[in-house]
Amino acid sequence: MFYSDDLIEEVRTRNDIVDVISGYVKLQRKGSSYFGLCPFHNEKSPSFSVSPSKQMYYCFGCGAGGNVFTFIREYENFTFPEAVKLLADRAGIALPEQEYSEENKKKRDLRMQVLEVNKMAGKYYYYLLHTEQGARAMEYLKNRGLTDETIRKFGLGYAGQYSDSLFRYLKKQGISDSILKESGLVQFNEKQGMYDKFWNRVMFPIMDVNSKVIGFGGRVMGDAKPKYLNSPETIIFDKSRNLYGLHAARSSRKKNLLVCEGYMDVISMHQAGFTNAVASLGTALTSQHASLLKRYTNEIILTYDSDEAGTRAALRAIPLLKEAGLTAKVLRMEPYKDPDEFIKALGKDAFQERIDHAENSFLFEISVLQKSYDMNDPESKTKFFQETARKISEFELEIERENYIEAIAGRYQISFEGLRKMVMNCLMQGVPVRRQPVRQSMAPEKDDGIRKSQRLLLTWLTEYPKLYPLISSYIEPEDFTDELYQQVASMLYQQLSRGELNPAKITSQFDDPEEQRMIAKIFNTEVRVETQEDTKKAIKESIRKVMANGIEQRTAKLDPADMAGLQKLIAAKKRLQELNRLHISL
Ligand code: GTP
Ligand code: MN
Repeated sequence: MFYSDDLIEEVRTRNDIVDVISGYVKLQRKGSSYFGLCPFHNEKSPSFSVSPSKQMYYCFGCGAGGNVFTFIREYENFTFPEAVKLLADRAGIALPEQEYSEENKKKRDLRMQVLEVNKMAGKYYYYLLHTEQGARAMEYLKNRGLTDETIRKFGLGYAGQYSDSLFRYLKKQGISDSILKESGLVQFNEKQGMYDKFWNRVMFPIMDVNSKVIGFGGRVMGDAKPKYLNSPETIIFDKSRNLYGLHAARSSRKKNLLVCEGYMDVISMHQAGFTNAVASLGTALTSQHASLLKRYTNEIILTYDSDEAGTRAALRAIPLLKEAGLTAKVLRMEPYKDPDEFIKALGKDAFQERIDHAENSFLFEISVLQKSYDMNDPESKTKFFQETARKISEFELEIERENYIEAIAGRYQISFEGLRKMVMNCLMQGVPVRRQPVRQSMAPEKDDGIRKSQRLLLTWLTEYPKLYPLISSYIEPEDFTDELYQQVASMLYQQLSRGELNPAKITSQFDDPEEQRMIAKIFNTEVRVETQEDTKKAIKESIRKVMANGIEQRTAKLDPADMAGLQKLIAAKKRLQELNRLHISL
């Protein structure tokens, strides 16, 4: 961080979060908060809340949340210093130049310049497509069934028939050689000097979620190789963190996103009305892609090619998607190769039907597995069911296992009871139950009750600061389970003990937007209670749970020689027993 904490706090307090967010999202007052449609995922009824008293936002639908800096970072895709700059400008606060680290300033300038060059190149390619030079490219796109509107919407272009058209154009605009090299659009070698990365290709600009051009894909107009060339990774272009078409798909307001392989597939699907389609950029899906997708939806339909490579790609993508908390389904395109060909051959209604019948990802995995066994051979068939039973046994919930046993018994030649026995056997042999994957990012944390009680207590403290002496007399920051909760509790206690209440300031102490999102969740936990009496009961119950859990944690960690610690524990246990008599007033 390059600014002092005081300065950051000043910038924050002079930018009221309701004012700032109102500039992006239509908000309506409801009780003590404001609500609107979440800009970070698709929804029809508002679950995005902004609290003037906490100076924080939180979406009850997708879990996005934080303070005013988090919002600008996430919405504008800005770094933290960039967000500070924007908000300081907005409030008319001059930022001291020297606080800008020299290196950071350079990097930021470079990014802006490379973005600018990509934008210029995009416009230039688009222009060329509409000139005589681009006639063949235009014909190619038309032959592939694209309308003028689609060409405009995706900003498609043509790279020119000479190997230095773009280079000469950008030079004329005064762009320096070093920026040209940074952009990846111009290459250099001893013999030729500077020349274009792309020529005589149809150009597909690649945009980030905010519709800024960050790179290009270029396709030959015939059968030459390589079929596609892509921009190299640059300071603004990271293939593992961007998805083609997401800038348009994010606002499609459909309940799922379609993930496919190719640029042309995305474009065909959008043209046919499936505006929720995206593709990875000629690389396999990554876990970063999965977290990016999770911001906008809870369900993914994989529409990979029907060949073996597509099947393998789907099998690899499924666990990544699940790990990010997404439900995955698989759409089968047979007998066609990809969405583009399918839609061309059978039309959009048939495609919609395939979407409606997309297959559950587990059943898809089993059907792929089945292909490697000979179901006419009893031994091979037995092995297939053993493997299937083992996989089913990895589901944690009995009801889940039974549902899959039922679905699979219905599909393959085996009775429900027969398969159930095999699954039971696997379970008894102590096949390790699939653990919840350990995630760095905390988004879809499993709510195991105790953390929810911990969050509730912290939320109540922000809503009823008068509860501070009472709650803190029972619960210490170390009684919380996770380090992040402990830190947040300790900072909140410090504020409250000084008579201060400022959750948004606490948020600023953390750099990682994932942590900020979690803190927003901590301060926005809801419980359904109707009356004040119920609220009091709920508070008491939460104190009891968090205390009991804290005692358990401390007991487990206690050094037997630590007499003072032991006595503290005994005292805490006694207080826990006496909790019934506690009277709470709000
Ligand atoms: P069309 O043949 O134009 O319909 O292309 P497609 O969109 O169906 O592409 P395909 O399924 O062949 O490939 C999927 C994606 O992989 C493409 O959109 C590209 O991103 C990438 N890709 C395909 N061929 C190449 C190649 O030769 N080089 C590179 N770098 N990427 C490629
Ligand atoms: Mn294709």
